[in-house]
Amino acid sequence: MEPAVPLAPEPPEVLDELYHLFRDYFDKAEKKRRWSIREDVPWDQCNRSLNPAIADVVETFCSVELYLPDYLSKLIPQVRQNRGRAWMLANWGYEECKHSMVLEDWLLRSGARTEEQVSDMHAEVYEHEWNLPYGNARGMLVYTTFQELATKVHYARLREAVRREGGDAALERVLQLVAVDEAAHADFFRRLLEVYLRYDREGTLEQIRKVTNTFRMPAVYSLAGSMHRVSEINRLDVFNENLFIETTYNPILAKLGVSRKELRQKHFKETLVPLAGPNARP
Ligand SMILES: [Fe+2]
Ligand SMILES: [Fe+2]
Repeated sequence: MEPAVPLAPEPPEVLDELYHLFRDYFDKAEKKRRWSIREDVPWDQCNRSLNPAIADVVETFCSVELYLPDYLSKLIPQVRQNRGRAWMLANWGYEECKHSMVLEDWLLRSGARTEEQVSDMHAEVYEHEWNLPYGNARGMLVYTTFQELATKVHYARLREAVRREGGDAALERVLQLVAVDEAAHADFFRRLLEVYLRYDREGTLEQIRKVTNTFRMPAVYSLAGSMHRVSEINRLDVFNENLFIETTYNPILAKLGVSRKELRQKHFKETLVPLAGPNARP
């Protein structure tokens, strides 16, 4: 659906600024954040008697990461004339593919899943195609910013849950490495949003308003047993609607310098609906 406030075209100076933000992000990632699945995880320290609910949540998160071909194949065409964003998606895809692999490795090495169960997980994921929740690149940038920070919180809080359940040095390290990547993604995409807000505040605010009114995590709801998966995430105190507001919604709006009041101003016809809940619709 077309935005009610037409989005301003992206002038060359904006495209340049986005590309420079990507170069800063990339240079920093190359220097400080690259890690190796093989070398940087103490794989001999898996806890084989961890609460099985933890492995269920790891499997859910791994499945969401496995939708990567859909994420990339649908997001890149939206930004192919925007080098900063297109190059970021290429780099982001590299980082995200490590996440599904490292989580899958833990499922196997810990004995939580057999090879056969892991191939069933792949089959289940590829049965359903993920589609873009928003049809314009600006809306998807807003969505990605919120989703990346929420994902970081999911991983960081799952790590705390692992510790509470008796610990697993390998999984804790995996979750730490992945959470740091997710935080870097959220920070980068938010910086892009700051640029868009500066040169097209109304158009960008409309997208922020639309996304925050309808946000839900990607792909979880198309997986088999999705309600059970979500209730396990809630039960382990990994994530819920209040945490979305406290850890994701409020901090991002504060950093963007957007108040709830400004977001509520009635330029648009949408109505407020619950955030991040299973019944929210994109
Ligand atoms: Fe990820
Ligand atoms: Fe990410």
